[in-house]
Parts: sequence; C-alpha cells; structure tokens
Amino acid sequence: MTGRVIAVASGKGGVGKTWFAITLAQALAQEGKARGRRVALLDADLGLANADVQLGLAPVLDLGSVLAGRATAEQALVAHEAGFCLLPGRSGSGTLAGIEGAALDVALGLPRQLAARFDEVVLDLGAGLGAAQRRLLAEADLPLVLGTEEPTSLTDAYAVLKLLSQDAPARAPRLVVNMAAGAGAGQRVHATLEAATRRFLGRGLTLAGVVRRDAKVPEAIRAQTPLLTRHPTSAAAIDVAAIARGLAAASVAA
Ligand SMILES: Nc1ncnc2c1ncn2[C@@H]1O[C@H](COP(=O)(O)OP(=O)(O)O)[C@@H](O)[C@H]1O
Ligand SMILES: [Mg+2]
Repeated sequence: MTGRVIAVASGKGGVGKTWFAITLAQALAQEGKARGRRVALLDADLGLANADVQLGLAPVLDLGSVLAGRATAEQALVAHEAGFCLLPGRSGSGTLAGIEGAALDVALGLPRQLAARFDEVVLDLGAGLGAAQRRLLAEADLPLVLGTEEPTSLTDAYAVLKLLSQDAPARAPRLVVNMAAGAGAGQRVHATLEAATRRFLGRGLTLAGVVRRDAKVPEAIRAQTPLLTRHPTSAAAIDVAAIARGLAAASVAA
C-alpha cells in the first residue's frame, strides 16, 4: 500500500496553515472512517512547530528525536482521539530549521515512510520555504497552497506556486482560501491568483475550497481541542469537511 502525501504550504505565516492541516487531517479521518482509511499528520514546520500545542498534546518524542536517531518515526507517532496520528515537530532543544546531511535525508524520506502505513499523510510545512520545505512540497502528491484575502498573503501564495511550477511542473497544486468573508470573497481571491498563474506560469489553478473566517476557530485553538470535535457544525468546520470530501473523491478517482 502507498498512501497519498498532501502538503499544506503558504509562504506567509499566520494564515492558519497549522490549524487547517489539523482540521483537514481530522476531516479526512472522519470521511474515510467507514472504509478504514488511516490518516497521519506530520508537523514539518521545522522552525516553529506547534501542531501539538493546538492539539493539547505534550509529546515526549518528536521529529527532533527521529532526526537525531534517538527514536523511530513509529515510536514518535502519537494517536489523537480526533482519529489520526501526529508526528510532532516540536523539539525541546533548539530549532530544526538548519538540518542537513543525514538528518535532512531522514526528514525528506519521512512522508513516504509514513505513506507506507497511512492512506493520507498531511504535512504542515510551516512559514517560509527553505530548501527542505521546498523539496517536501515538490515531492508531495498533492500540494495545497493556503492563502487569505490579504495582499501579502496573495503575493506569498503566488511565490509558492511559482517555485512549484519550477520544481514540480507536472504536479497540479490546489488553492485553499482561508479566513474568507464568504464563499464569494474566496472565489474572487482564487480568480485573482489564477489570472496570475495563467498569465505568468502558463497554467490554471484548481480551487480546493474556501474556508470562512469563524470566531469558533480561535476559540477551539484556545481550548486546545480540534474544531470538528468542539464545534462540528460551525461554518469553518463545514467548509473544511467539504474540502476533505472533494479531496477524498479526487483520490478515489486517481
Ligand atoms: N478560518 C479561520 N477563522 C478565524 N480564525 C482563523 C481561521 N483560520 C485560522 N485562524 C486563526 O489564525 C491564527 C493562526 O493560525 P495558525 O494555524 O497558527 O497559522 P500558521 O500555521 O499559518 O502560522 C490562529 O490564531 C487561528 O485562530
Ligand atoms: Mg503553523
């Protein structure tokens, strides 16, 4: 078996990448539960990993332990009651941003290693696109680029799309618009970005979906409880569930 690697990237920080990656993992797990589909979330934000904090976990082992050879990925995985397993990125000692050599090879191999056991492997790539993150993004089966309506987010999302078109011209990325005032506003963001990719990169851009701005999101994060557990009928929960259904259908069709 080999699962699918879905990478969530944005360029800009603070656009909701970690929150979205967690919520997508939970939605994919719920969507695939009846079919026994297994989902893993890899916190690959090498600089500022914090998926474990949003999930209220205090892991003993993490990506740092795995890269240092102190633990296997298997040992570092934590099962969350939301229905997926997390490989935490948080390192008690120092940053992982500058990893190189053997550790870098281990990091780059992790998504595929997890995909041998899981049907869906969601990667939270974190802000910025260093060499390691750029490779992780280019090697993902499905690169998801997350953006908001803010002009700075749009230019950063475009920069990520441009790098991807160079690094992995055959991979078709999809756009997620987060914190949108409404579906229409999100679609306008997509139209703007797609006009740019068509004009300058010579290719279109599929919209994976729009997630509305929702006060329930920061509330759930403060409570360190996943949104689909705490507020399953909130606007943002409904939007992410719809995106997960679309992505699940795409994987069945592929
Ligand atoms: N759809 C949304 N509606 C409202 N707030 C959101 C939404 N998505 C994310 N946020 C808020 O954005 C902040 C940053 O989220 P985070 O996942 O840490 O972003 P990133 O990983 O991109 O830095 C969080 O405090 C979260 O509450
Ligand atoms: Mg983050």
